[in-house]
Amino acid sequence: MPEYRSQANGARVLADLNALRAIGAYKSGVHKPTFSAAHMESLHWLAQRLPEAQLTPTIDGIGNVFGTSKKSGPKILAGSHLESQNFAGWLDGPLGVVYALEAARVINPDSGLGGAVEVAAWCDEEGHFGHFLGSRSYIGDLTEADIDSAKDRTSGRKMREALREVGLADRPRARAELGRHIGYLEAHIEQGDTLESSGLGIGIVTSIVGIWQYRITFTGEQNHAGTTRMGARKDAGLALARLCVAIDERFPDLCSPRTVWTTGRITLDPGAPSIIPGRAEMLFQIRDDDPGVIDRLENALTSIATEIGAKSGCKEDIERLRTGVPGLMDERFQHAIAEASNVFAGGRSLRMPSGAGHDAQILARIMPAGMLFVPSIRGISHHWDENTTDGDIVTGAQVFVDACRRLLAG
Ligand code: GLV
Ligand code: MN
Ligand code: MN
Repeated sequence: MPEYRSQANGARVLADLNALRAIGAYKSGVHKPTFSAAHMESLHWLAQRLPEAQLTPTIDGIGNVFGTSKKSGPKILAGSHLESQNFAGWLDGPLGVVYALEAARVINPDSGLGGAVEVAAWCDEEGHFGHFLGSRSYIGDLTEADIDSAKDRTSGRKMREALREVGLADRPRARAELGRHIGYLEAHIEQGDTLESSGLGIGIVTSIVGIWQYRITFTGEQNHAGTTRMGARKDAGLALARLCVAIDERFPDLCSPRTVWTTGRITLDPGAPSIIPGRAEMLFQIRDDDPGVIDRLENALTSIATEIGAKSGCKEDIERLRTGVPGLMDERFQHAIAEASNVFAGGRSLRMPSGAGHDAQILARIMPAGMLFVPSIRGISHHWDENTTDGDIVTGAQVFVDACRRLLAG
């Protein structure tokens, strides 16, 4: 390996990740919902570290943390997020933030290296209050009305109330300064098992899926479970179960090889064993990086629901809750990650799409963006068992710092 004057300090990266893991620890992972005490402590932890990288810290009016540099020359923006899913893993988010901090600590004080790394921790990537609220705010895609209507999906707490309680209500929201950055680079755990099962160290992300989400409701007739003949029922629960099966039978003929769909929650109303449900609702999600595929699947969903509604004597309703924004990663950024992987990961890298959503797909709407992945042990994520070996974490940090250096050098 060539001698580099400036390299990631692996021990420092691991120590920082473990410090963040200790804040809001839960089993082997963390519990840090957006604007919880543990999340806010993590934001302040980062703000206190940023001066080590010659960055001025700010936390803005939506809970984004920024470290800005006064160094002359080109600037690259790097980061990820610090909140977690409920009772989930320690690396989903913090890995990318700590790599960004490390790149800034290595590159910014080095007067022999032109340019600087600026750091961002985007608020609420995990969607407790909405989706990508922090990064969307930064690119100018979040209105005051969006914030007025946002509520925590678990507790129902209003976002305005949460912002007041954590002391951010009166702060301005930071907006991207066009032309300030040559682009945005984010690192993340893969959250799947492609890298691990292929013995690879680095994923070079080519595209990021869009996420489409729906509330599907059947309304039938609530009635007595003992006295209502089977033929006379309008069972909304049965209609919903039929829909789940029909989706699984029909979608495979219409989807792309990478499309995925998930029923995240089913609610039967009133939900008692002696009562035929009069209402049944499910939250349903589809992911793909091609909106054309989603169009086909949405049309199929509508016609399947109509058929099943008619057969079950129920009225169907499909409400779209979220529209996906797939993101394409910049070719120059992919190339820089590949070159850095050749030096620091023995070329054990793979170009691959991301099946998880990331803030990079939002930033990609206003500047070139790139992402790199490190392996996830057994592909587990959104669970406290989520993990990556220390060796893979350190290799990823070295590749990340070197990719930043290459991009700044043009
Ligand atoms: C992000 O956490 C996702 O669910 O893709
Ligand atoms: Mn994440
Ligand atoms: Mn996540």
